[in-house]
Amino acid sequence: MSKSKDEIVRVTTHTLGELKEKGEKISMLTAYDYSLGKIVDASGIEVILVGDSASNVMAGHETTLPITLDQMIYHATAVVKAAKRALVVVDIPFGSYQGSSSEALKSAIRIMKESGAHAVKMEGGKEIKESIMRVLSAGVPVMGHLGLMPQSIYKFGTYTVRAKAEEEAEKLIEDALELEKCGCFAIVLEKIPASLAKSVTSELKIPVIGIGAGPYTDGQVLVVHDVLGINKDFNPRFLRRYADLNTVISEAIKHYIHDIKSGSFPNQKESY
Ligand code: KIV
Repeated sequence: MSKSKDEIVRVTTHTLGELKEKGEKISMLTAYDYSLGKIVDASGIEVILVGDSASNVMAGHETTLPITLDQMIYHATAVVKAAKRALVVVDIPFGSYQGSSSEALKSAIRIMKESGAHAVKMEGGKEIKESIMRVLSAGVPVMGHLGLMPQSIYKFGTYTVRAKAEEEAEKLIEDALELEKCGCFAIVLEKIPASLAKSVTSELKIPVIGIGAGPYTDGQVLVVHDVLGINKDFNPRFLRRYADLNTVISEAIKHYIHDIKSGSFPNQKESY
């Protein structure tokens, strides 16, 4: 059967590998709900991450730790419905994979089965290798995550740049190589020096996606609420804002309130 001209071709984990080989940068953005997920997908992004940053931007928690597996599945289900082209990757939340490899497998299977997502992401290196391998053995693609790992924020103590010291940088390189060896299809490097991210990217065959990791990685990821300027309280150096939706939305709502108070809304055409 031949493909129709308008048929949408799904981005897969293999597509990302091909993009790296071709030297074409990979675009990735978070989404947590159906409406924004639809816009992000239709804009042509390659990967949508249903990040556990939903804990911060959707639920208002200070860290990513409180979000539950059920809540992640709720967000992921909505995004999967919206995404016709992008690869949808879902964070396994804190407390749903650290206990044992069988817990990791159960959580990953719940995410894949209940939400319809295409892959999961897990934070950590060698210390979670067994869990990653168990998830992979069930046919679930895994994206790794090294550098600043927000689920370990209380161990790190701060959100400052990671792996500046030689020892930590060496561990990060070893972990990245190990994740590739295990079979991860890609890794995220968060908030590390650009030179270190450059070395890891050239050492690995799998795609490396950076956030606050400089320009040399195979792709970039940011949180959609930050990119769109919905959340104005978060201003790290690595963030580039592409819109000021906070002001746009606030002005629109003020206009709406004004029209109600003045009696100009609804008018005759807006009434039955
Ligand atoms: O949860 C998230 O949004 C993430 C990205 C910052 C990579 O893990």
